[in-house]
Amino acid sequence: MEPRRKFIQKMGLLAGAFSANNIFNELHAASWDAAGQKIDGLAPETVAADEDYWSVIQQGYSVDSNLIILNNGGVSPSPRVVQDAVERYNKLSNQGPSYYMWRILDQGREPLRQKLAVLAGCSAEEIAINRNTTEALNTVIYGLDLRAGDEVIGTKQDYPNMIQAYKQRALREGIVYTQLSFNFPVESDAEIVEAFEKAITPKTKLIHVTHIINWVGQIMPVKKICAMARKHNIEVIVDGAHSFGLLDFKIPELGCDYFGTSLHKFLSAPIGSGMLWIKKEKIEKIWPLLCNSEPRSADIRKFETLGTRSFPIEQGIGEAVNFQNAIGSKRKEERIRYLKNYWANKVKDIPKVKIHTSFKPEYSCAICGVSVDGMTPGELDSALFSTYKIHTVGIVWENISCVRVTPHVYTKLQDLDKLVLAIEEIAGRKKQ
Ligand SMILES: Cc1ncc(COP(=O)(O)O)c(C=O)c1O
Repeated sequence: MEPRRKFIQKMGLLAGAFSANNIFNELHAASWDAAGQKIDGLAPETVAADEDYWSVIQQGYSVDSNLIILNNGGVSPSPRVVQDAVERYNKLSNQGPSYYMWRILDQGREPLRQKLAVLAGCSAEEIAINRNTTEALNTVIYGLDLRAGDEVIGTKQDYPNMIQAYKQRALREGIVYTQLSFNFPVESDAEIVEAFEKAITPKTKLIHVTHIINWVGQIMPVKKICAMARKHNIEVIVDGAHSFGLLDFKIPELGCDYFGTSLHKFLSAPIGSGMLWIKKEKIEKIWPLLCNSEPRSADIRKFETLGTRSFPIEQGIGEAVNFQNAIGSKRKEERIRYLKNYWANKVKDIPKVKIHTSFKPEYSCAICGVSVDGMTPGELDSALFSTYKIHTVGIVWENISCVRVTPHVYTKLQDLDKLVLAIEEIAGRKKQ
């Protein structure tokens, strides 16, 4: 076959991985195809260190090349294909919002639900599309029929928006909210599971688990917590803000009852997109947070009575799922873990530097905490930004005090080398 025809045919195959009408840069598509062929069949752990492959993925993003953005745990950028999709849908919407949003873009919600379901490994009838984890989990926290005296077990290291939701129910309705506290990193599943199990009383109805603790990146043994809870007939709600799109897992495998996530974190979907998963048989009993005409319906769509919201953002999620699938979830997980280990291993033995996160793969992936003796997290965060233009975030929460560093697939090794140099200089090992 002549080379040009072969190229066009290849391009067609690759374009199939993305939506038919995206304006994906052809050259990038071709180099992605070539890079993909090179790593085809290799173990994800091997591909994690293949800079040629990841340099092609990096080109898919449009991040500021003058700053080093290492707070992807907060919110992640979208690749160009996703940004383009949102822009396209937005332009279309503004040609006549009530027609193009409610009659045209609206048609994309069911296919999107199915696409997300394939990624999540569940039925499309278990997925509601919304705006973020806060909305997803508050829907369940407020939708459960808990009565005065019913108990919920969570931790002090959960996310504030969820802690506040339980505290408000305690204040308003008299539920009992018990918070455990862990000294992370903890490298023992048994220690964590036992702590939850010990806190159970005959009144315990619900356990709240954060899949990946946002403050320091500890991965919690969710499957084991759920298996233990099931023995006691207790439901489990999982905060998957940082796990979906990062770790390679299917939601039903966890054994939980409820799972909420923000798609604008590791999935790199448009900012302001999220997802709620509820086990099919539990949907009926959860009251929607934003009321629906059939509040006791078993149809997951009852949680989507959100009023007018951004359909372009919602529809842009599809392109982020395409991007994820084109990389492969396991490859992505291993690359991001590799990036975390790359910098953390280089700084861990520097005098005065402390790493606050496990190096074991089962307990950590993207997020890692670091501190320098004699500096507050705020001071270290400021020093990294003011002198080196490295954007991180200082964390002071309960018993945790560190700077949180979170790379993503677009992060370059040379940027992590700059982080290492910055920490060496700040800690005083190298002269500035
Ligand atoms: C563990 C955890 N849960 C929930 C959230 C809330 O996410 P969102 O602001 O997208 O609702 C975050 C945000 O960082 C988080 O880290």
